[in-house]
Amino acid sequence: VEISRNNKDRKVWKILILGEVSVGKTSLIKRYVHNFFSQHYRPTIGVDFALKQLVWEDESVIMLQLWDIAGQERFESMNRVYYKGAVGSFILTDAANPDSFKSAVRWKKDFDAKVNMEDGQPAPSILLVNKCDLEKVGMASDVVQLHSFAQENGFLTWCYVSAKENIGIDDAAKTLIRKILARI
Ligand code: GTP
Ligand code: MG
Repeated sequence: VEISRNNKDRKVWKILILGEVSVGKTSLIKRYVHNFFSQHYRPTIGVDFALKQLVWEDESVIMLQLWDIAGQERFESMNRVYYKGAVGSFILTDAANPDSFKSAVRWKKDFDAKVNMEDGQPAPSILLVNKCDLEKVGMASDVVQLHSFAQENGFLTWCYVSAKENIGIDDAAKTLIRKILARI
């Protein structure tokens, strides 16, 4: 599928799904695209792809080309190809793993350093605090802290999500889509 950044009629957008190992990137995509969840952890090797097609409010068709980047990729030097043509990202943390927030900051910096939209501004990123079905630990349990963390690190916004319980994912995607539509 050809990736279009500025053709309003063919909305095929490349979105990166980033974050620490095991925060639930693959699970989130599987839930969003196939409405499926598994407890079984199988690490992503390199990168995977999924296509989510949806009919938008103006009845146009939007296709999200979701790039599921392995969490362990950051420790190698991330391939530039992964970033090329991206128009947005979801950066995930794990509500039960405080370390995943430090990692999210690094992913966000990396994304902003390598992706710019045509207006020269960074592409929008949303912080997704996944596994909100679990007991929240540290910052993940503190909405005020989450707000300032998201703001300080330049996220468009943040949301609690759960791939397991299917919480918040559709709304988060709509928020990102709305922002991208306003920008292209
Ligand atoms: P890498 O590919 O290694 O970077 O990991 P990943 O971010 O793709 O994580 P993955 O989706 O493979 O999920 C890791 C583990 O977390 C799996 O055992 C999932 O079942 C579990 N998991 C994912 N999302 C949720 C969630 O919302 N709630 C709970 N309780 N567990 C989840
Ligand atoms: Mg994965």
